[in-house]
Amino acid sequence: MMQSSRIITAIDVGTTKIFTLVASVDNAGNFEALGHGVVPCKGLSKGNIEDIVEAQRAIRESVEEAQKQSGIKINSAFVGITGTHISFENRRDVLDWVGSHGVITDQDISRVPETVANASQQIGRKVLHALPISYSLDGEEGIKDPMGMHSNRLEVETHVVTGSSMAVDRLVRAVESAGVKVDGVVLDSIASSESVLTPVERARGAAVIDIGGGTTDIIVYKGGTISYSAVIPVGGYQFTNDICMTYNTSFEAAEEAKITQCSTEPDTVRPHEEITLPVLGRVAGLRVPRRDVCQLTRERAQELMRLIMITLKNADVTDFENFRLVLTGGGSNMDGLEDMIKRTLTGNVRTAAPNGFMEIPLGLQQPSYSTGFGVLLWGARQISDAGSANGAVNGRNGHANGSRADAKEPVSVGGGKSRFFNPFRRNGK
Ligand SMILES: Nc1ncnc2c1ncn2[C@@H]1O[C@H](COP(=O)(O)OP(=O)(O)OP(=O)(O)O)[C@@H](O)[C@H]1O
Ligand SMILES: [Mg+2]
Repeated sequence: MMQSSRIITAIDVGTTKIFTLVASVDNAGNFEALGHGVVPCKGLSKGNIEDIVEAQRAIRESVEEAQKQSGIKINSAFVGITGTHISFENRRDVLDWVGSHGVITDQDISRVPETVANASQQIGRKVLHALPISYSLDGEEGIKDPMGMHSNRLEVETHVVTGSSMAVDRLVRAVESAGVKVDGVVLDSIASSESVLTPVERARGAAVIDIGGGTTDIIVYKGGTISYSAVIPVGGYQFTNDICMTYNTSFEAAEEAKITQCSTEPDTVRPHEEITLPVLGRVAGLRVPRRDVCQLTRERAQELMRLIMITLKNADVTDFENFRLVLTGGGSNMDGLEDMIKRTLTGNVRTAAPNGFMEIPLGLQQPSYSTGFGVLLWGARQISDAGSANGAVNGRNGHANGSRADAKEPVSVGGGKSRFFNPFRRNGK
């Protein structure tokens, strides 16, 4: 039988680069990358678009490059979002309209995210996701899938992600100015989790820690569902900036020194080893002990670790034996970081790049690209959920969330349809 396929585009508007990825997906869920564009961008700060003209330029160039590579005209795209304007809430709602005919139906459950999203609306904020965590039936807590059950009083606990309307609109406008319609907006860390977490990790409990240029985004899975998220306003930028400020060198020189010379372990560097940094306003470079530069990196990494630990504590993550940390984002390349976490927090940690769901083009098999690939997977699921009655085409084999095939495992809340609320979904598309 002929497989029909469709084109999906993902755009990761990051603090350091715009990454556009265009791919085809057939109705068996097989992806093929057709083209991509990666363009450096300085228009963002801490994940927020500050210079819209610069952001528009970089988005346009990135889209043009992906079009050139693929030979495909990109008309619309799914877009990732992060930034310090994002906030989160776990809330409970009584669903008094559910089960009025006795038994809770699939249709009831599929209406839950939108209902909760409507109830969560606040002036000046846009609801990006309403993700049911679990249900309570007549006082019985922790029910993952209430379908087919009887209840007089159904309550749902939901993880609700919102962004400032202004920031969301700015992102949408920046993308649309490149002639690309926005199919949907997904939180960067949710996207990253799509491309790096295994179904087992989601089910047992895991946090994705996406260390980007401007922010570190965290998303926590427990029992197969998202239970907590956070955006920490520290990323690779701060590591570079420390070097830049301390030695009065250019950002570019500091960035290069960070990537090629630094580790979080000064003790592994020979005591008298020196590196040369150009100094602003001076012809001769400054020779500095490499150990000292590494010490700066170490201190910044320790601070970031503390912030990560506070976040995990707020997320009620206490038992690390069965809980995995998955590091990704460009900042996770930092030499020594994973070992630092191993020594001080948990051995149950790995660093991840997009992998396992499609052939990843050469050069994109890196943690920086986890978000972009994740946006693609998330977008594909949006489309298949909207288009088919029986749930999701999976971006990966045995995807724990939204997969009917996994319905026996207690890992999914109500299947693919109910998991995402997409306020950007266009009618009939
Ligand atoms: N080998 C390396 N060692 C240390 N840091 C690195 C290395 N490679 C990349 N980085 C850092 O990763 C950061 C970029 O990561 P990434 O591409 O994930 O960010 P982004 O998506 O543009 O930003 P954000 O997600 O915060 O909006 C930069 O700060 C860069 O210096
Ligand atoms: Mg990013």
